Amino acid sequence: MSFNTIEINKQRQDLSGRESVWLFGYGSLIFKADFPYLERRPASIRGWARRFWQGSHDHRGTPESPGRVLTLVESPGTVCAGMAYRVAPAVFDHLDVREKNGYLRFSTPMAFSDGGHEEGLVYIATEDNAAFLGPASEAAIARQIATSRGESGPNRDYLFNLADALRHLGVEDQHIFTLEKLINI
Ligand code: SIN
Repeated sequence: MSFNTIEINKQRQDLSGRESVWLFGYGSLIFKADFPYLERRPASIRGWARRFWQGSHDHRGTPESPGRVLTLVESPGTVCAGMAYRVAPAVFDHLDVREKNGYLRFSTPMAFSDGGHEEGLVYIATEDNAAFLGPASEAAIARQIATSRGESGPNRDYLFNLADALRHLGVEDQHIFTLEKLINI
């Protein structure tokens, strides 16, 4: 997949002059923090739901056989719990490469689990990106996750690591836990 969002993301927010920036992670950014951070706090955003609707041609699949990874879809009233990281602006150079397969940075209000609010950036793969796969039954999504693998390893590890991290945070997410059960049958 030649499409990538690195250059677009650089133009989206001007982070120059900022001492630090909050990042909200809801998928692999919860369980794989391969970047330096100044602070990490459980947090949530409102109005969005996690869905395995984004294709992965790099980390968890290949161009011929894409895996499925998470994006956020609009869902009024839904609270999406995840992890917030306070990072130096330069960390976005790394994150933009990691999230290059269709994700764009958006600004969002975040609520910390232990109180307080901040504005943060979140990577979302919207439905107009070239790698977007969209909805499918949970059985079909589970089958695709069970059989895909990419540079970062088996697609199923993405799901299992996330499910473990959510349990650890005390977060209930029906989509994630149903897929985990379907793959374990
Ligand atoms: C995220 O984790 O916040 C973005 C999607 C991903 O990298 O899995």
